[in-house]
Amino acid sequence: MTQERRRLARALRQHVESLRAAGVSVLPLRRAAADDERTGRLAALAREVAACRRCPLYRGRTHAVISDGTPAARLVFVGEAPGRDEDLAGVPFVGAAGQLLTKMITAMGLARKDVYICNVLKDRPPQNRTPLPEEVEACLPFLEAQLEIVRPQVICALGAVATKALLGQSLGLMKMRGQVREWRGIPLVPTFHPAYLLRNPPAKRQAWEDLKLVKKLLSAVRGQQSGVR
Ligand code: URA
Repeated sequence: MTQERRRLARALRQHVESLRAAGVSVLPLRRAAADDERTGRLAALAREVAACRRCPLYRGRTHAVISDGTPAARLVFVGEAPGRDEDLAGVPFVGAAGQLLTKMITAMGLARKDVYICNVLKDRPPQNRTPLPEEVEACLPFLEAQLEIVRPQVICALGAVATKALLGQSLGLMKMRGQVREWRGIPLVPTFHPAYLLRNPPAKRQAWEDLKLVKKLLSAVRGQQSGVR
């Protein structure tokens, strides 16, 4: 090592030591690089989705609907499929159910921009019908790729379609909601779909219990992280 390199290495070490003494345990550069990498991989995936013809739903789409929010999210919400408003806007959960979801996120003390929102299907089924099993099968690899790239701390599955797609189980949402399941090592909480809550307002009380569970899981992960660092 040349003298100049040794001097630079010493200066860098001293700088890191002074940051550590000031309580900085994670260098933002590392986080920024990770965020850039995620953003790049998600953009590549979005291009693939936009060109997808794996099932006939592409014929009716105005826009493929991929995601909203941040790739650096600690929490991901997974819905069913875009509706008319989402197909026109190219953004998930912007219609009436979306407005309720936004309220639910705000009630949790978060903002839409702090979470990541996506769906099982990326194209709208005609007349908003329930996705067919073959459509879910064709589209699921995109959702799985999104979740693997974001790797959130908690996933909240909205409704039976998202819960079944991710867990492969169909016990019925009533039996599964409010419990902590797991998707590839990530805690997953199933809850009611906001569209169901619009039709059945009394179920909002149970949904709020589920969201409190999600909050508890997020706080527990944060507690573990500050304990280690
Ligand atoms: N319902 C969903 O499941 N997803 C949306 O994006 C909108 C409504």
